[in-house]
This record gives sequence, structure tokens and C-alpha cells, in this order.
Amino acid sequence: MNLLETSLGKLKLQNPITVASGTFGLEYADFFDLNLMGAYVTKTITLLPKAGNPPPRLYETKAGLLNSIGLQNPGVQSFCAEQLPLLIERLKIPIIVSISGSSPDEFESLLLRLEQENGIQAYEINISCPNVENEGIAFGLDAFVVHQLTQRLSRLTQRELILKLSPNVTDITEIALAAEAGGADSLTLINTLFGMAIDWKTGKSRIRKGIAGYSGAAIKPVALAMTYKVAQKVKIPILAMGGIANWQDALEFIYAGASAIAIGTASFSNPRRVPELINDLGNYCNQADTPIKELIGKVTL
Ligand SMILES: Cc1cc2nc3c(=O)[nH]c(=O)nc-3n(C[C@H](O)[C@H](O)[C@H](O)COP(=O)(O)O)c2cc1C
Repeated sequence: MNLLETSLGKLKLQNPITVASGTFGLEYADFFDLNLMGAYVTKTITLLPKAGNPPPRLYETKAGLLNSIGLQNPGVQSFCAEQLPLLIERLKIPIIVSISGSSPDEFESLLLRLEQENGIQAYEINISCPNVENEGIAFGLDAFVVHQLTQRLSRLTQRELILKLSPNVTDITEIALAAEAGGADSLTLINTLFGMAIDWKTGKSRIRKGIAGYSGAAIKPVALAMTYKVAQKVKIPILAMGGIANWQDALEFIYAGASAIAIGTASFSNPRRVPELINDLGNYCNQADTPIKELIGKVTL
């Protein structure tokens, strides 16, 4: 019996471990069999190609990573023509395509374009991006906007619709509830926190654009708290991430209420992090003789 089996809404997963959008490509197949994972999440795709931000756009701090990649991607046409066929050919696990837009119309066009393609099981809606129709305020910061956008997208697809929440808000549970009410099937959290680093010798920002996204070990307690808070409020499942680096971290998030977890930054320092974690978590469940599903949300205070 596979004690790691779980589900994320409509998705049946052989185990709860997947990868964080933007941190993991097919090149990891050089290190392990990608079909060992529960699911695969793509880098965020936009309607038109994006060149990304100018360098320097990555900086490692004592306890985490600052990135300012700027959603660099080839655009949806090229994704469908070149990347998606490769993913479908190589992966037997669910494929979750991450998408982002700068207006609700753009999100809709993207989703409708992807609806024409077979082999996609879910969409992860990245709402940590400026909304040109709303004075550039990120979609994910406004509960009303999140509700409207989710409602619009949920009417267009039968596939699993996952809303990815930003942690840079006053109350993440408000946004989570708005997404749930709008028809989201599940939630991903958290995206990166705002962060910055400055070279004290020169006074120069370590990142060209100044403010960057902060990820890795430093954000784990924040991500865990947000997972717990959201899980207390919503009924839909959660895919959690933020500083997860080993099976113990993964278990903490599952206890907090996650149905599945993703590894992001931790793969950069060890490309075999994902298969090791799957193996270790499986050993733990076998030794404890406990299906992972039974531990979801079972934190005690
Ligand atoms: C280099 C880098 C690129 C990222 N690109 C994306 C992206 O394209 N879309 C997205 O939704 N999140 C993106 N993220 C955020 C991650 O998916 C994840 O939410 C965040 O890093 C927290 O997880 P971690 O601490 O395990 O890395 C990126 C993170 C990093 C470090």
C-alpha cells in the first residue's frame, strides 16, 4: 500500500511532493526520475514573451534567496508549441501550468489558449503581479479583485483551478476566502515575501530593481503560519511551500493543513532534494504505519 497517496482537489497524487513554480525545469531529469514526484508545476507563463528583469537579479542571504527574475518566459504560443509537448512526452504525473496576466482579460485569453491543449491537468493562477486596470496594484492584494478573477476563470475550465496567494498582504485568510468563494478548487501558498539587500560598503542594492522576492529557509515559519491560518478558514485543499528542505519540514506543513507541498529554493543547493524527500517521507510513513492523508491538519496546540 502506498502510504504517500494524497489528492489536491480533483488531482490524484502518488505522493504529496511537487515543485515550486519557477524553480524547477526538465533539466532536473539529469539527476532523478521526474515521474517519482506527485505532480509537476511549470514556470509562470504569460500571454506574450517576457525577457525578465536585468541582472543582478539573484542574491543569496544568510538564510534565504532574493530573486527578481521578472517572470521571464517564452509566452504561451511558444510554450504550447515547444515546452508543453516535451513535458507531456516525459511526464506521466499531473502537469500544473502556472499562468499570470496584467489584466483579467489577459488571464482569460491565456487560460482559453491552454484549454485547447491536451495533457494539462491543472492551472496555478499566479496573482502576485501588477494589474494594469487597477493602478498597478497586484491582483493578489485585493480580495474583491481575487474573487472576480477567480469567478471568471472558474467558469472557463473543468480542470483543477489553483489560486496562488501572495504573503504580502494584511490578512491572507481574507484573500483565501475570496478565492474559495469565487470557485477556486484549491490554493497554493506562499509566493515570495518582499525583501531587499544592500552592499553596506557601496550603498548599492544587491538586486538591480531594488525590491525582490524572498524565499528559502528564512520564510518557513511565515509560510507555516499562513498555511495554518488559511487551513483553519477554508474547506478547499492547500498546496504549501516556503523554505521546505527536508521531510521533517514537509510533515510540519502537512500537520498545519497542507494536502501537498512544494520544494523551491532548496533544490538549488541540492538537485536531488526532491527524490530524497519523497524517499524519506515514505520511510517515515511506513515506519509509523500511517497514511500521510491522516496527518493533514492534525496539528495540536
Ligand atoms: C528563482 C525563483 C523564481 C520563481 N519564479 C516564480 C514564478 O515564475 N511563478 C511563481 O508563482 N512563483 C515563482 N517563485 C516563487 C516560488 O514558486 C515559491 O512560491 C517561493 O520561492 C517559496 O518557496 P521556496 O521557499 O521553497 O522557494 C520563484 C522563486 C524563485 C526562488
